[in-house]
Amino acid sequence: MTPIRRRGKAVSRVPGRRGWSRSSPRPFSGISAPGAVKDPSFRRSLALFRAFMHEQDDPEACYSLLARDAADQVEAYDGPVAGRTVVDVGGGSGYFTEEFRRRGAQAYLFEPDMGELGEKPPEGAVIADGYLLPLCDGVADVTFSSNVLEHVADPQTFLSELARVTRPGGLIYVSFTNWLSPWGGHEWAPWHYLGAERARARYRRRTGRPAKHTLGENLFAVHIGATLRQVRARDDVEIVSARSRYWPFLAEAVVKAPGLREFATWNLLLILRRCPP
Ligand SMILES: C[S@@+](CC[C@H](N)C(=O)[O-])C[C@H]1O[C@@H](n2cnc3c(N)ncnc32)[C@H](O)[C@@H]1O
Repeated sequence: MTPIRRRGKAVSRVPGRRGWSRSSPRPFSGISAPGAVKDPSFRRSLALFRAFMHEQDDPEACYSLLARDAADQVEAYDGPVAGRTVVDVGGGSGYFTEEFRRRGAQAYLFEPDMGELGEKPPEGAVIADGYLLPLCDGVADVTFSSNVLEHVADPQTFLSELARVTRPGGLIYVSFTNWLSPWGGHEWAPWHYLGAERARARYRRRTGRPAKHTLGENLFAVHIGATLRQVRARDDVEIVSARSRYWPFLAEAVVKAPGLREFATWNLLLILRRCPP
């Protein structure tokens, strides 16, 4: 094992598919998918934005594009997923799991809500809570969680479980929409800026339907600054990148501006490496 330095301490390079170190945060720089659009770029952000605008009337197109984009991001940081074990936690109906499988990964979906799984979940989908995954320590090369962190009451315990199931040196992809993002209130955004209860009531008045999310029950006010401080203080993971998931430029720079980042990042993407135990 080759000694490297991490937070002032000497640690060891982990033997495995790919070594890593603090001085080489992006060990793989190529985007592997044919036709992948450069990230970040206006073209990519515009395509994603257009897809989001049609999320309700064409969810298939929206989530397929998002899944391809997220898989491209994973591969840009960590190389092709083919032949590797990918664990998708809180993966909803499985668009991301399916995309990883299309790329040759052994991908597994863990989702606690039968309703979210829908009628045609990926084969072998497991009903499981992200706080307590039915997996051994270190089984995953890549642990993936898209837009789940703001739906759990205890994000740090949730992250601990993602780290536990990831092998040392493995990659953890976590993204979430922070509370002060223009989308922070989800279906009642941007009225959450005036207060969650007011925004929910407005949603009901306007649509005639109760809102899916209730603050403090299935949606939580997660902030970027606090999350970064908590993640930096952990010793089971190291931050490879903290960036806006969708921004067309300055994706990492925006996250470095306290205050501004809470409004401007929209969705924080954390690329983490599992540290050796
Ligand atoms: C906004 S959806 C995101 C679905 C999918 N990952 C995506 O990016 O489109 C949030 C998901 O988090 C799941 N979730 C909520 N609490 C969870 C928990 N404790 N463990 C795992 N998943 C959870 C929900 O069931 C839901 O599928």
